[in-house]
Amino acid sequence: MQNRRDFLRNAMFAGAACSAAGGLRAEAAANGPAGAPMLGFVCKPMETVRVGVVGLGARGVGMLSRVSKLPGVHVAAVCDIQDARIALAKNTLARQKQPEPKVYKGPEAFRALCDSGDVDVIYNSTPWQLHVPVALAAMNGGKHVFTEVTSAFTVEDCWKMVETAEKRKVHCMQLENCIYGEIEMLTFNLVRQGVLGEVVHAEGAYNHDGRHMANDLFPAYQYWRYDWYREHAGNPYPTHGLVPLCLTMDVNRGDRMDYIVSIDSKNAAFADFMAHGLRPGNPRKGQTLKVGDVNTSLIKTVGGKTIMLQHTVSVPRPYSRLQRVQGTRGIVADYPYRIALEGDGKYYYGTAAHSWWDAKRANEIREKYKHPLWKTIGELAKKMGGHGGMDYIQDARWSYCLRMGLPLDTSVYDLATTGCLCELTEKSATNRSRSLDVPDFTRGAWKTAPKMGLVDIDLAHFKV
Ligand SMILES: NC(=O)c1ccc[n+]([C@@H]2O[C@H](COP(=O)([O-])OP(=O)(O)OC[C@H]3O[C@@H](n4cnc5c(N)ncnc54)[C@H](O)[C@@H]3O)[C@@H](O)[C@H]2O)c1
Repeated sequence: MQNRRDFLRNAMFAGAACSAAGGLRAEAAANGPAGAPMLGFVCKPMETVRVGVVGLGARGVGMLSRVSKLPGVHVAAVCDIQDARIALAKNTLARQKQPEPKVYKGPEAFRALCDSGDVDVIYNSTPWQLHVPVALAAMNGGKHVFTEVTSAFTVEDCWKMVETAEKRKVHCMQLENCIYGEIEMLTFNLVRQGVLGEVVHAEGAYNHDGRHMANDLFPAYQYWRYDWYREHAGNPYPTHGLVPLCLTMDVNRGDRMDYIVSIDSKNAAFADFMAHGLRPGNPRKGQTLKVGDVNTSLIKTVGGKTIMLQHTVSVPRPYSRLQRVQGTRGIVADYPYRIALEGDGKYYYGTAAHSWWDAKRANEIREKYKHPLWKTIGELAKKMGGHGGMDYIQDARWSYCLRMGLPLDTSVYDLATTGCLCELTEKSATNRSRSLDVPDFTRGAWKTAPKMGLVDIDLAHFKV
């Protein structure tokens, strides 16, 4: 198996290795039960989870409004570079009759917050360029850190996240809300109950027309995403489509991603939009992006499964994360939700799954195999909102786990395994789709790590 140093040596544009990294890794590995001491990591139950939110933009303020309504959660501090965003955050909390948070303001103020005794958790909803610096500062300050997607973009940064979490013994989790989507969780349950048989292939995507990222309607501070796409090819946003599939397919829990190939289409749709879709005087007129209109990647797991992953933000098309999972006994897909099964455990030669099942039968399956978590708080989540309720379920779960002293649903190894694909897809796509190894951030612990179970929330400990 390729070790970390070999991997970096082979990497064509990985940055220099962090000087202390080897030492940190050795120390953490020596402390842990296996090569992945943060697998199943728990800390003492917290009576109240004090949260500090760094980055009070669209996502940060939306999240703060939801999180502050969760039982046992207190937004104790906020941090941004802009007075207007800080004022909005304070007003949002005041409207909900929450105590005023402590304010940290300025481009480096997150460091003081991370070193303070004000909070237990940093909720990192900054632009992509700041994800890693904020997360490392949080962990080095002894705080658990939850970082928005994509949490880290290079192999080297992913190792830094892993090694720092291990050394500091804190949670470092990616905030992948799509894990908690109703169809993603239904699919997970269908696989756990054996309804789809053995999974052989899956497809996921972030297919979202985001051409508006170049228009001139945003305030200047929101063009960081556009800037990223100008500088990078490949797939910089793999996690919405991929992480739910990884849990369903036991990646890092009995299986792992072995290698990946990636290909970019030309970006004619974005060029067309830039030529005809912008108002006169837009400073971005005439600029070009490195990101292709459609990026497609193929992943093979050590256990022989395949994953097709797509990314497109610059073509006219409806939103889709695909979420197709093909098993030996049937297939489930989303956008829209569809299912076709072989039947009641028997083989019908080319019959029962030949067409998608009709809506009535498909909806019966949807109800019957609804994930326990959706049964428990699905209705409340829909009321509380956030992408149809999945944001609320995500935040309900991590806060519940911290308060109960339970392991979180995903670990720093999941963050690293999926985040590093940003670099790998870019490298592969710009090198004739060369196949690249996906590093094993668990250092072999994936072989014995338990599969994810059907997690839930006990309402006796979750009084809203
Ligand atoms: N999971 C999801 O469904 C989802 C949806 C939207 C966005 N996101 C993610 O959320 C993150 C933020 O996205 P957004 O749309 O809210 O962006 P945004 O541009 O609206 O907000 C970013 C905020 O960070 C602040 N900021 C910039 N530099 C800072 C610094 N040095 N210290 C503190 N604050 C700083 C900005 O002032 C701004 O308020 C991104 O990672 C994005 O990918 C996730």
